[in-house]
Amino acid sequence: MNNISFLSISFLIFVKITTCTFKLQEQFKWSILDYVYDNGFARHQALTTKRFIPENNLPVGIEIWKDKLFVTVPRWKPGVPSTLNYISLQNTEDKSPPLKPYPDWRSNEFANCNSGLSTVYRIKADSCDRLWVLDTGTFGIGNTTQNPCPYALNIFNLTSNKRLRRYELRPEDTNPNTFIANIAVDIGKDCEDAFAYMSDELGYGLVVYSWKQNSSWRFSHSYFMPDPLAGDFNIDGLNFQWDKEGIFGMSLSPKLVTGEKILYFSPLASNREFAVSTRILRNSSKVDNSYHDFVALRERGPNSHVTAKVMDDYGIQFMNLIDRNAVGCWNSAINRYGANAIDIVDQDETKLIFPSDIKIDRFGYVWVLSDKMSNFLISRLDYNETNFRILFAPVDVLVANTACADYRSFGNDFFFKF
Ligand SMILES: *[C@@H]1O[C@H](CO)[C@@H](O)[C@H](O)[C@H]1NC(C)=O
Ligand SMILES: *[C@@H]1O[C@H](CO)[C@@H](O)[C@H](O)[C@H]1NC(C)=O
Ligand SMILES: *[C@@H]1O[C@H](CO)[C@@H](O)[C@H](O)[C@H]1NC(C)=O
Ligand SMILES: *[C@@H]1O[C@H](CO)[C@@H](O)[C@H](O)[C@H]1NC(C)=O
Ligand SMILES: *[C@@H]1O[C@H](CO)[C@@H](O)[C@H](O)[C@H]1NC(C)=O
Repeated sequence: MNNISFLSISFLIFVKITTCTFKLQEQFKWSILDYVYDNGFARHQALTTKRFIPENNLPVGIEIWKDKLFVTVPRWKPGVPSTLNYISLQNTEDKSPPLKPYPDWRSNEFANCNSGLSTVYRIKADSCDRLWVLDTGTFGIGNTTQNPCPYALNIFNLTSNKRLRRYELRPEDTNPNTFIANIAVDIGKDCEDAFAYMSDELGYGLVVYSWKQNSSWRFSHSYFMPDPLAGDFNIDGLNFQWDKEGIFGMSLSPKLVTGEKILYFSPLASNREFAVSTRILRNSSKVDNSYHDFVALRERGPNSHVTAKVMDDYGIQFMNLIDRNAVGCWNSAINRYGANAIDIVDQDETKLIFPSDIKIDRFGYVWVLSDKMSNFLISRLDYNETNFRILFAPVDVLVANTACADYRSFGNDFFFKF
């Protein structure tokens, strides 16, 4: 599909949305996931050999690029046939479409370290039409984890669907506790001037990869640690402790007048936000010499654990508030960070149970995946119910009548406010 027809489809969807009173609109929903096999026989064979066990497949990450909506499924349990997948946004008739492996089945082969992907969590499409995919190389979760392959960053050309590069993290970039599930991508003056930031949630580090230098380095900081008072969670009637979970959610600001950006980040077991300039992260000689360059912002208040966040071109940050079945916002261009500055843009006790990922597409739509992850991990899902949803709404519709609403009046000016 060319850009013009995609634009007109977006426009039609937009018209439909603004006539409704609710905010996030359900675009796709599943009670259980399925995949596009070459034919019925191949699917049947995958089921009987248990290479595909439908109830072990949980979607955790999304990304949008043109008419593709990517969906990642980690190999936490056996029977996940493909970890990086997409569905087409052209066919909006099927509300529960099966997932297509991206770019193909072969590239999703488990434990094929050179040309396969074992487990992918979060992914990021950049403005140069590349998809950044961090493969943890693992199977399992928690104490069942095996790692047949090292952590490797895979970068695909979204136009040709070819892998451009595979970069294995250096042994020094990880430690025995390492668990990296999230990635942010920073494009500077051109497509060569690109960096990836990867948050090590259980090893407490921030790994930086430079595309131009084709090398990586690792920052450590006490701000990457969990808050010992913030490890207790109550989600959908379940109580559990994620008290070792450090740095996880990250979002990049627009470019400041000085050319740098701000990386906002938060540990999962924490109600606090932190920030650091990309000028520091991009400089490998700052690794051991940057304690005071990291900044602590104020707290979001109780029950505000966050795993996913994203910022639009005007400095409005959207974050998942997993304890509240909600999506929150903060307008960094007009408000200092803090509990008062954060507002809820949408909340739903059914549809937003564990909003696991949030992205913004090029047309200014916010997309949210909710997946009942805590039920899947700690209890079990009822496969007679809708369990996974992908919802979306335009930024303007979401922030209307919230503390984030003074929108676009700042144009492209962005002020770095704590
Ligand atoms: C692994 O973790 C599970 C759940 O936390 C626990 O029940 C089990 O005993 C652990 N197994 C090992 C070998 O530590
Ligand atoms: C991606 O593929 C397209 C189409 O083949 C090509 O024109 C473009 O140069 C490629 N981009 C990169 C970064 O290799
Ligand atoms: C990047 O570095 C790795 C070694 O760390 C090497 O195997 C790979 O070929 C390099 N890629 C490019 C594009 O230079
Ligand atoms: C990187 O950091 C070092 C040490 O602080 C500093 O001397 C150097 O000027 C920095 N490089 C750039 C490009 O900012
Ligand atoms: C789903 O519904 C069917 C038919 O009503 C029932 O037999 C089955 O036990 C239900 N499954 C679950 C997981 O509740």
